[in-house]
Amino acid sequence: MLRPYLAVPLHLVLLLQFCFTPRALPTEQEVLKQVVSNSILTVRAAKAEIIPTVIDDFLPSLTMSVSWPSKEADLGNTIKPKHVQDRPNIKLYDESSSKSAYWKTNMTYVITLTDPDAPSRDNPEWSEICHWIAAVVPSSNATVSILPIFEAAVPKTTNTYEEIMEYKPPGPPPKTGKHRYVFLTLVPANGTSQPLDLTKPSDRKHWGTGKERKGVRYWAKDNGLVPVAANFIYSQNKKQ
Ligand SMILES: *[C@@H]1O[C@H](CO)[C@@H](O)[C@H](O)[C@H]1NC(C)=O
Ligand SMILES: *[C@@H]1O[C@H](CO)[C@@H](O)[C@H](O)[C@H]1NC(C)=O
Ligand SMILES: *[C@@H]1O[C@H](CO)[C@@H](O)[C@H](O)[C@H]1NC(C)=O
Repeated sequence: MLRPYLAVPLHLVLLLQFCFTPRALPTEQEVLKQVVSNSILTVRAAKAEIIPTVIDDFLPSLTMSVSWPSKEADLGNTIKPKHVQDRPNIKLYDESSSKSAYWKTNMTYVITLTDPDAPSRDNPEWSEICHWIAAVVPSSNATVSILPIFEAAVPKTTNTYEEIMEYKPPGPPPKTGKHRYVFLTLVPANGTSQPLDLTKPSDRKHWGTGKERKGVRYWAKDNGLVPVAANFIYSQNKKQ
């Protein structure tokens, strides 16, 4: 079970919001906005069976924006493989305030990309495929932006960025239908700001576990990480 230790069921959060804030103050409205947008995430992830196939239900505490030069992930939109060949620009932000329990300078934020539908959703015998593991340590508590490597070289940000597994662009084979490509942001379950010693999966296939349908959930658990944000897209080969 990968549950943030402070997880409260989302419906309860919503209920509390509605029960105890008859006239919401601006900051509370922002909190509510975040809760609502993140409940859209959990609803869509559940509908796409990402919850519970890829990850257990969790309480998102950050919003994760994933964008390429001409496209953006939007919780289950479809993007052609040709538009996602380069590393996306990832931004993590907290719409409510900077006071999130997980929003910490020097804490390692781990970005992962996994494909649970390899070679196809009906026959996921190679699943999950590890497409990307990157660790970023923010140097301040402002919005964290993980720029593509070529841009990161520009001294615009002092965040540290390390790739544990190099970005392998989605390349769904012909005639395998739509694949789900799931982006997660993971943080240390114990909230530590100490550097992490993350393991590199021995293989992309099955995330090195050697077992069908095993992947990011197991890797995260082995590394003491829990999810705090997610986004996902669909992509398919044009030959179907
Ligand atoms: C960042 O943290 C510092 C020190 O904890 C605090 O004073 C500041 O307001 C925070 N900045 C933001 C943008 O939240
Ligand atoms: C973050 O780490 C740097 C370098 O180790 C240290 O100087 C700084 O005080 C740390 N900041 C916080 C908020 O822990
Ligand atoms: C927190 O978790 C990390 C990663 O699992 C581990 O390396 C570290 O020792 C833990 N720290 C504490 C204070 O428990």
